[in-house]
Amino acid sequence: MIDKIKQLLKEVENFQITNKETMESLRLKYLSKKGILTDLFAEFKNVPNDQKKSFGQAINTLKNLVENKIKDAQEQLDNQNSAYAIYGDLTRPGFAQNIGGRHPISLVKNQVIDIFSSIGFNVSEGPEIEDDWHNFEALNFPAHHPARDMQDTFFVQTNPEYLLRTHTSSVQVRYMENNQPPIRTISPGRVFRNEAISSRSHCIFHQVEGLYIDKDVSFADLKQTLLYFTKEMFGKSKIRLRPSYFPFTEPSAEVDVYWGLKTETDYRITKGTGWLEIMGCGMVDPNVLKASNINPEEYSGFAFGMGLERMAMLLYQIGDIRMYFENDVRFLEQFKSNF
Ligand code: PHE
Repeated sequence: MIDKIKQLLKEVENFQITNKETMESLRLKYLSKKGILTDLFAEFKNVPNDQKKSFGQAINTLKNLVENKIKDAQEQLDNQNSAYAIYGDLTRPGFAQNIGGRHPISLVKNQVIDIFSSIGFNVSEGPEIEDDWHNFEALNFPAHHPARDMQDTFFVQTNPEYLLRTHTSSVQVRYMENNQPPIRTISPGRVFRNEAISSRSHCIFHQVEGLYIDKDVSFADLKQTLLYFTKEMFGKSKIRLRPSYFPFTEPSAEVDVYWGLKTETDYRITKGTGWLEIMGCGMVDPNVLKASNINPEEYSGFAFGMGLERMAMLLYQIGDIRMYFENDVRFLEQFKSNF
């Protein structure tokens, strides 16, 4: 009898629990109602009295061995599925999230859009590859007109009817073709000019142009709108309009904002005058309205256009326009915390 138990002890010791199923088979074999231990306890009654002690001890040893083995295996299996086993130490410090940032041009663009949205302008967009009509002809630049030289143009080599838009005024033509006044729209976008690249100019840059057309729109409306904009954008409340020329507006003007002369930078960027040129503007030429089937007898309007690189250079004190296009993370990271 004792020998049989010793053999069972060996068997249990050597038994390998590898998963839930083998663990369960061990339990069933020894601990269940019809298991080996139940039988052994039943036999216990028939054991002669003088052997009862050693036989009882042996059965208990076997029972404890099986129970402990199952308990250990259960713990091990539990651990395998635990958070610790899957993720490791959950109290260790985490990896810092690397927050992305917007490009300074996008920041300024969004700011301009916010300001004009708040006074009822919507946003319109159009293609970067344009036809001659929308970029020039409809804007009162006739073919061979010298005004076209103001905007050195990249033409599509295989078909010079098409070009890379030189300004987003082309979007305004498209907008007028598809919408009747009242029109209040701004057109942000990328534009292209065949210019030598330097710290101050680039062949790619971004503009926001605005168009307002309704009955009885006057030059005073234009001036107030721009004043509102410069106050919101730069916190400056003095502007002046200098006569200028654009084929699509008459009269036309350049807008200067009074930047002040408090710091050395103010002196440098305003060349000692305190004034900074920030955009072009004017009353929409009647020929432009006609080209888009808007009756100039009934409607009038104003337009304006500004370069975003220049705005961002002023707001963030950036010295070289090429920085915007190099995508150097050391430069871009500096704008991280902005909205
Ligand atoms: N389209 C002009 C430019 O690109 C800017 C402008 C827009 C001027 C509207 C006047 C009115 O230079």
